[in-house]
Parts: sequence; structure tokens; C-alpha cells
Amino acid sequence: MTGMSERADPVLEHLVYLSLASPGLSTVDVRSILGSAQVKNRRRDVTGLLLYSGRHFVQVLEGRALELDDLVGVLQRDERHASLQVLTRHPIRHRRFGSWAMGYVESLDDADALERLFEAGTPDATQVNAILERAARRA
Ligand SMILES: Cc1cc2nc3c(=O)[nH]c(=O)nc-3n(C[C@H](O)[C@H](O)[C@H](O)COP(=O)(O)O)c2cc1C
Repeated sequence: MTGMSERADPVLEHLVYLSLASPGLSTVDVRSILGSAQVKNRRRDVTGLLLYSGRHFVQVLEGRALELDDLVGVLQRDERHASLQVLTRHPIRHRRFGSWAMGYVESLDDADALERLFEAGTPDATQVNAILERAARRA
């Protein structure tokens, strides 16, 4: 019989990053990114939410630490965005964005709120979180 400690669930993590969309990226491009992301995330048991303001991305990723390491490595090499900056990364007991293999928010209000944060400097995690929580209720 294996003890509980030996078969503890793998650690889940919550990660949020910001990035700058490459010039010329269209919403059609973003939708195609999303289509394949959802298939791959389902396979990796990654969930989350993507918000695109037309200029910046903010993405929540939740999953096992190793999967997030891999995915962030891939994302950093993706030339469809740049200046990827991890805002927050920490272990979680339960997913807060578990309903989507990758949800997509196209709300103008959320996009505006995100751009206003960038205009004021680099957004901090608390401010971005507030936008994401609101977006999640709409997604
Ligand atoms: C803003 C943005 C968000 C992305 N999100 C994901 C994601 O959640 N999961 C994923 O697998 N790929 C995501 N991608 C795509 C990856 O960077 C990469 O292109 C893809 O995983 C490679 O898949 P392929 O090797 O099957 O073409 C994202 C790309 C961008 C630009």
C-alpha cells in the first residue's frame, strides 16, 4: 500500500504573463492560435484564459509545473508576440480558470482596461488579476 505522501497529486501552478502582440497580428490569427492551443492544452491538462487587447496579450495558464515550464519555453520562442513577462506564478490547490482548455475574451471593456494599465506603466499582478477575474465571469 502506498502512503498518501508518496502519491500526492502533482503540484498545480497558476501563471499569468503579459506580452506584446507582433505588428500586423489579426484577430483571425489569434483565433487560429487558440484553436490549436485548445487541442494541445487538453492533452497537457492545461487550462486558462487569453485576453487580447489588440496590442497586448494577457494569459492565465494553470497546470502541472513541468507542463507550464515547457509551454512557457515554447511561448517565449513564438514570434507572434514579444516581451513576454511572467507577472505571477505560484502553486494552487484548485484551478480558478479550470473551465476552459483556453478561454478567449474579446470584450472591449476588458481590452480597454488592460491598455489603460499599460499607459500608466507596467501593470502589476493585482491590477491584471482584477481584469482577468472579471473576464472569467464573462467567458
Ligand atoms: C498569445 C499566444 C498564446 C498561446 N497560447 C498557447 C497555449 O495556451 N497552448 C499552446 O499549446 N500553445 C499556445 N500558443 C502557441 C505556441 O506558442 C506554439 O505556437 C504552439 O504550441 C506550437 O504548436 P505546434 O508545434 O503544434 O505548431 C500561443 C501563442 C501565442 C502567440
